[in-house]
Amino acid sequence: MNRMPQIAIFASGSGSNAENIVQHFKKTRTAKVALIICNNPKAGVIERAHRLRIPLVTISRRAYENSDLLLHTLKTEEIDFIVLAGFLWKIPAAVCEAYPQRMINIHPALLPKFGGKGMYGMNVHRAVLEAKEEESGITVHWVNEHYDEGDIIFQKSISTVNCTSAEDLAQKIHGLEYEFFPGVIEEQLSLIP
Ligand code: GAR
Repeated sequence: MNRMPQIAIFASGSGSNAENIVQHFKKTRTAKVALIICNNPKAGVIERAHRLRIPLVTISRRAYENSDLLLHTLKTEEIDFIVLAGFLWKIPAAVCEAYPQRMINIHPALLPKFGGKGMYGMNVHRAVLEAKEEESGITVHWVNEHYDEGDIIFQKSISTVNCTSAEDLAQKIHGLEYEFFPGVIEEQLSLIP
């Protein structure tokens, strides 16, 4: 790309990954987080967006389902690339079509295991431990219209053997996310023609 790429982050929860990504690109200046989109008016990411001075749009279910509105916002803000960082809702088909190979998600397990509807945050970590998996990890993948089914870009695994609880596993997985996700985003941005 011949200008600095502009990223929109979609988040539904605490937003610790969103903040980590914002801080990463403030340092590297290889891209700019130009917008945060949030579907939950009580999410922690809202306070973070204000503190970090990133424009924030909170979107209702009705506005979200009319993808014209969402696409209009993304176009107005000149968004080149979308990052889902703990975003709960399925992405509308029209948005997938508008951002082919330009939208990635992070999932807190080793897909294709422990993915799909309802597999979000702590639900994932509890399921991994209940299944007595010896490993878990993170998966970064392209987004399509189906939950957690796009092509995988990156995975990193860790042992669950010393995990004492789902909270403990969540903390370790968050550590991996903070360490690797911004670099994976940066690499994919560098490949945009
Ligand atoms: C992250 O662990 C992310 O991988 C997960 O939600 C958490 C959000 O944390 N995403 C999913 O489970 C998607 N299915 P954060 O709000 O602190 O970044």
